[in-house]
Amino acid sequence: MDVGIAGSAREAAALAADLVAAALVGSTSPVLGVATGSSPVGIYDELAQRVARGELSLAGASAFMLDEYVGLPVGHPQAYRAVIDEIFTRKVDIDPSRVHGPDGGASDVEGACAAYESAIRDAGGVDVQILGIGTDGHIAFNEPSSSLASRTRIKTLTRQTRLDNARFFGGDLDAVPTHCLTQGVGTILEAREIVVVATGAAKSEAVRQMVEGAVSARWPATALQLHPRVTVLLDPEAAARLELADYYREVWANKPDWQRP
Ligand code: F6R
Repeated sequence: MDVGIAGSAREAAALAADLVAAALVGSTSPVLGVATGSSPVGIYDELAQRVARGELSLAGASAFMLDEYVGLPVGHPQAYRAVIDEIFTRKVDIDPSRVHGPDGGASDVEGACAAYESAIRDAGGVDVQILGIGTDGHIAFNEPSSSLASRTRIKTLTRQTRLDNARFFGGDLDAVPTHCLTQGVGTILEAREIVVVATGAAKSEAVRQMVEGAVSARWPATALQLHPRVTVLLDPEAAARLELADYYREVWANKPDWQRP
């Protein structure tokens, strides 16, 4: 696991965008894994600026979302399909019909989850996955106790996650759905490269566990330690509890050029 401690959230987003862009060039039909929530917004803005400057194109790319709420009416502004359109799809030159997400409104939930797994496989798998992390250590919506081998399925959100996300629902906890469809930890680990971004003090304990904790379903993000190509990009607040922060800074500062995007 490569840990980059940036000077600010903005710098972390720019570094993450460098990695994502580098993973996408060289393929005419790359596959990007996209997270929703606040963490990746700066990355998408960076990618959008590069597209606008003509330095990058996602015209041939497809994208797969991590998760979707269950129970929100179609077109609800907080449905992750609507959120990803807002923060990513409409800002870049990707074909909207190639941005996929799990069907949170499906009556056949198992069938919808299996179909989503097949769609990712049929696209050739995810080249680079962008991830945020929950304050409770979730990745996608794999909440504590999720199997580290799990595949796309329905999950119950923890109260902590619903409290964290109530800010998107006008602060109304009751308006936050209780369930979601989410890629599993096993699904995520099949991405060829993973870029995690975390900012702010509220993430510092989850970040400590993800980077330095024992691999355990108690903190699902710890499963990322089992993946050979993960980069974690942090601002100083999110990195504040890392025991080996000085070492990560030294490694990052002394990376040979060939290891940089
Ligand atoms: C979103 C997702 C979640 C978020 C996490 C952090 O698709 O899968 O794991 O990445 O809840 O959310 P923010 O970035 O809003 O703090």
